[in-house]
Amino acid sequence: MTRVLSCIQPTGDVHLGNYLGALRNWVIGQHECDAFHGIVDLHSLTITTEPGVVGDNTLRLAAMLFAVGLDPEIATVFVQSHVPEHPQLGWIMECTVSYGELSRMTQFKDKSAKREAEFISAGLFTYPALQAADILLYDTDEVPVGEDQRQHIEITRDIAERFNGRFGQTFVMPKPVIPRAGARVMDLQDPTSKMSKSANSEAGLVYLLDEPAAVLKKFKRAVTDSDSEVRYDRAEKPGVSNLLEILAATTGGTPETLATQYTQYGPLKSDTGEAVVEMLKPIQARYHELIADRGELARLLSTGAHKARAVASVTYQRACDAIGLIRS
Ligand code: TYM
Repeated sequence: MTRVLSCIQPTGDVHLGNYLGALRNWVIGQHECDAFHGIVDLHSLTITTEPGVVGDNTLRLAAMLFAVGLDPEIATVFVQSHVPEHPQLGWIMECTVSYGELSRMTQFKDKSAKREAEFISAGLFTYPALQAADILLYDTDEVPVGEDQRQHIEITRDIAERFNGRFGQTFVMPKPVIPRAGARVMDLQDPTSKMSKSANSEAGLVYLLDEPAAVLKKFKRAVTDSDSEVRYDRAEKPGVSNLLEILAATTGGTPETLATQYTQYGPLKSDTGEAVVEMLKPIQARYHELIADRGELARLLSTGAHKARAVASVTYQRACDAIGLIRS
């Protein structure tokens, strides 16, 4: 059975990009594959400086993952820090990747540039090594992610190949699985930048927990393009194309055919907003039920951690044996 793994950071609330680019596919994939999904709290320490925040975000994210439809009876949903093999293998990965390779990561360049005057942790730089450990620990065949993670999966493949070359066949070679529609949801206020938790303003971000009125308002105010033609053209018409892609990802169909149904921006914006509101309604209702019982969420995560460790510990030991580290 195909093994699938993908993870999400508990930083800020889940937005439409996360959902359409990743989470929705995790939910579909759990029925066809052996699915592991991590809440990568250690990754979010790269930019966290306050106590208490990550833990609270972790529980809220767990509620959201179950609310969007991950079934704890089928998929293994776990917290990264509950499985110590992640940082353990992460160190070995750091020793298997070069400074030059890490320096070429666009996400590091973007994130460190945005944090210009702030503290830039070494962890932000070595982040892809820990991500490689997340993936390789589970003998992962497929990694369902949004387009922005492609480079991180590629470096994971390079690391796996180098390790296997040095120490003998140890890791399975993973491949990214990126959706046709929704792979790169853009900011509604700045459609040349991806929708991201680190955006300057909230007006261009649609959160899964936004009230219907807020969602409609954000779509109504979405930046469109200077002429008034509805056409799907990412390069020339990024604002309109983003709306068409969101509508396509939400209702089915393709952005190209949906474009032929509109002659004005107004109806496109309101239809897209309404389609998103309808999609979010059941998710929000389930989220509010689930978050009311934090004890049950913690129990589900503890079950997930046991299942994750059973797999991760075997792979980790295989890696240590391949290197020839002495067993304790
Ligand atoms: P994170 O937490 O930023 O995002 C989680 C998932 O959401 C996708 N995504 C998007 N997709 C489409 N449009 C967008 N605007 C958009 N924004 C985010 C991301 O591609 C991702 O799939 N490094 C990862 C977390 C990670 C990971 C892993 C992922 C750690 N270890 C192992 C896969 C496998 C990250 O920061 O994702």
